[in-house]
Amino acid sequence: MHRVVASRSARVASAAQRVSARGLATVADTPVRSFGGLRDQDRIFQNLYSAHDFRLKGALARGDWHRTRDILDKGHLWIIDQMKASGMRGRGGAGFPSGLKWSFMLKPGWENDPRPRYLVINGDEGEPGTCKDREILRGDPHKLIEGCLVAGRAMGANAAYIYIRGEFVEEAHNVQEAIYEAYRAGLIGKNACNSGYDFDVYVHRGAGAYICGEETALIESLEGKQGKPRLKPPFPADTGLFGCPTTVANVETVSAAPTIIRRGPAWFDAFGRERNSGTKLFAISGHVNRPCVVEEEMSIPLKELIERHCGGVRGGWDNLAGIIPGGSSTPMMPKSSCDEVLMDFDSLRDHQSALGTGAVIVMNKEADLVRSIARLSKFYAHESCGQCTPCREGTTWLMNMMNRFEEGRANLREVDMIWELTKQMEGHTICGLSDASAWPIQGLLRHFRPLVEDRLREYEAKNGPVLFGGRLANERRKDLALPANQSYPDTHTVENFRPGVQ
Ligand SMILES: Cc1cc2nc3c(=O)[nH]c(=O)nc-3n(C[C@H](O)[C@H](O)[C@H](O)COP(=O)(O)O)c2cc1C
Ligand code: SF4
Repeated sequence: MHRVVASRSARVASAAQRVSARGLATVADTPVRSFGGLRDQDRIFQNLYSAHDFRLKGALARGDWHRTRDILDKGHLWIIDQMKASGMRGRGGAGFPSGLKWSFMLKPGWENDPRPRYLVINGDEGEPGTCKDREILRGDPHKLIEGCLVAGRAMGANAAYIYIRGEFVEEAHNVQEAIYEAYRAGLIGKNACNSGYDFDVYVHRGAGAYICGEETALIESLEGKQGKPRLKPPFPADTGLFGCPTTVANVETVSAAPTIIRRGPAWFDAFGRERNSGTKLFAISGHVNRPCVVEEEMSIPLKELIERHCGGVRGGWDNLAGIIPGGSSTPMMPKSSCDEVLMDFDSLRDHQSALGTGAVIVMNKEADLVRSIARLSKFYAHESCGQCTPCREGTTWLMNMMNRFEEGRANLREVDMIWELTKQMEGHTICGLSDASAWPIQGLLRHFRPLVEDRLREYEAKNGPVLFGGRLANERRKDLALPANQSYPDTHTVENFRPGVQ
């Protein structure tokens, strides 16, 4: 007893010393909350690596379909309120709050609308670097099907269509198997889970076009047409699949919903920083020792994510050149940002990038950054659906220019030109593919412009001045009358026009 009193008085004395050391401060320092190190029991996706049975027996053992009827009985408003309270933001890339998005299906008077209503699951996953949804489809398909039922109930939907990328053969097979099992067990179909609610689930396999991941293109594709995005408005919640109210949601978003509701929104909301709640699948590839897909807490520092789960960057952290943090459409970040950024929507935005799909592409100093971005430009040029001029023409221009930059065969002033081109392509088209093709190049120039310029200078030093468009000045045909900017360094025109090659 005596000892306890003594030690307490010692503690009081040392606290007094700390306060006096801080001067007149009266408020205790805010405890620093660190993120990451998610425990196994807090992981939603328990069969991410397909180590266990994906079928119903295995799913039941992992806690799926546990008292699903009770969730359905609570009704649509309750489910939506739970999703809102959890702070879940869509995992398909844009990060729109899911509860709010799902509530758009419940416009006043929706009960009197005679049209059928649909939930569409986006399992297209075509973005380079992104490889998380396929793990759910393959290893945890029952989570998705249960999620369809719960999300569908929240929206008053009659059916769900799961749109799966064509190349995902095993994934589509496992989902279809799980659907058959769920029908046989009375979990979906007529009177799903004995709840009195009828709900069908169908699989639809795409043909492998990236653009079919865009929600309105996906709807067109489901309708049997070419996957070309629609103008919005009208939004899918008003006029979607077959002209009926529809919500398109990502595989991960919907698959997480039943667990969030079972464990309570407060549990999910406790992970990550404010406005960035929950756990998230991260897919880490590139120059790391062990590439992987892992579920982690939102707001985990990027460096910790890589060191804890991937065995670090190849050649060590100091060998890092840059990281694309959220799939190929998000701008690359330099090492200085990677040192401190947290993997959440807000922190990555503060570093002029985005969380996107959480697909982290790591490039160490062995990577040719210009070549990597040029390769992405080729991808976007190939995948543009061609409806909008800035995208159709712009993506091809970006690809051609980036191919020349890779070689160094470009005029220095073309660096500003490509920047301007990306700015013109942003926000001027029907869908986000045009922006997605512009951002990787903007990231490269924002942080690695000297690298690009050095390459151009090196090429010029070896080959002589390069004209706009990549032709060498010494290849110019002297007998042709060319515009001034094409003919430099012709002695007749050089006085009038001197591009920035010198
Ligand atoms: C070009 C393009 C491709 C896209 N590809 C996908 C995709 O493969 N998977 C996906 O879930 N969302 C993709 N999206 C986003 C979807 O349009 C949509 O926002 C998302 O499926 C909504 O789901 P969420 O609310 O659960 O995030 C893509 C968007 C664009 C512009
Ligand atoms: S932005 Fe590109 S991909 Fe999107 S609709 Fe326009 S042309 Fe098609």
